[in-house]
Amino acid sequence: MTMRVSRRNLIKLGAAATMAGFVPTRFAIGNTAKVKVGLLLPYSGTYAGLGEAISNGFRMALAETGGKLGGREVEIISLDDESNPGKAPENTNRLAVGDKVDFIVGAVHSGVAMGMLKVVRDTGTITVIPNAGANAATGPLCAPNVFRTSFSSWQACFPMGKVAVDRGLKKVATITWKYAGGDEMVGGFVENFTKNGGTVVEQIQVPFPTEEFQAYLTQIAALRPDGVFAFFAGSGALKFVKDYAAAGLGSIPLMGPGFLTDGVLAGQGAAAEGVLTTLHYADALDTAENRTFRAAYKSGFGKEADVYAVQGYDAGQVLIHGMAAVNGDTTARSALIAAMETARINSPRGPFTFSKAHNPIQDIYLRQVRNGQEVVLGVAHAALADPAKGCKMT
Ligand code: PHB
Repeated sequence: MTMRVSRRNLIKLGAAATMAGFVPTRFAIGNTAKVKVGLLLPYSGTYAGLGEAISNGFRMALAETGGKLGGREVEIISLDDESNPGKAPENTNRLAVGDKVDFIVGAVHSGVAMGMLKVVRDTGTITVIPNAGANAATGPLCAPNVFRTSFSSWQACFPMGKVAVDRGLKKVATITWKYAGGDEMVGGFVENFTKNGGTVVEQIQVPFPTEEFQAYLTQIAALRPDGVFAFFAGSGALKFVKDYAAAGLGSIPLMGPGFLTDGVLAGQGAAAEGVLTTLHYADALDTAENRTFRAAYKSGFGKEADVYAVQGYDAGQVLIHGMAAVNGDTTARSALIAAMETARINSPRGPFTFSKAHNPIQDIYLRQVRNGQEVVLGVAHAALADPAKGCKMT
């Protein structure tokens, strides 16, 4: 795959995205109508950095096809979901019904994804989830028009259950923000940890999106567990890992999904030393695709790519693939969905295909921070598919 992305292309794409006005559809009057894509992502709050990286990755994929999907120009409409589940149905309606977008790319927060799903299951808007792990999205709430380019919460954390036992960690405390995303990640870990003989000594839940961890860290110190499994992300993860070290808990191994360090490792500095995580991506993956992707992202946006950038980029790749198969004709819905379903995405994480429930079947890597670098220790679970409990595609 050749990648041509430059600041100029990205700026052109941005300019095209802001042009408004009525344009008749291509199939009425020729190849002129823009494809509308709504980005429902957090651009404020603790997950703001995640929303930005996903948007950047998505725009970078589009820039590689000259800013087009199936030969048609693209208009991007970005909406700040504020990681607020209560506003998710209304925000989704604004995009699906108000702006009549052809595609939605969202969300980051599992609660927002659940609210979004209520709407897109009715409107039929083709939706790609570029982060939120809510198991239900590719479980009981699966739908032909809903795809995910990230992970299920279960999938990202299940492998760590066995890793912990294999490393002799018998008594573990868990800590997470209290909402579907975090609870289900802890659930995936606990399932495999207890199955392999581990004991959970305490499950601590912290209101979202608080970043005041002191009381909980005192509680952990008193419990003296063999290890701690934690889910936080974005600026919350940055602070939690620093606070954990500052509280003198450095001798108690800290584990979690890779969100604990991804995108925030530089800011965590020495506090992140030794943190052990599982994830479907790692910055250091030594493949041609990953190296090219990271170099292009850095030159386009002036920052290092992270897992969120990859998920946004792959959301773009899925749409590019689907729209190419139907030559940009979004009315050819079944052919469009069929092409997306059978896509083999050449991701910076490694190639992946979709399960029947439209969730990636992917390798989950074991990573550890050593000398300030995220080192890939190996594959914790190869080609892991989410069990997709309760998914019935209609
Ligand atoms: C989620 O809410 O599903 C979620 C949020 C942030 C992450 C991962 C998962 O980094």
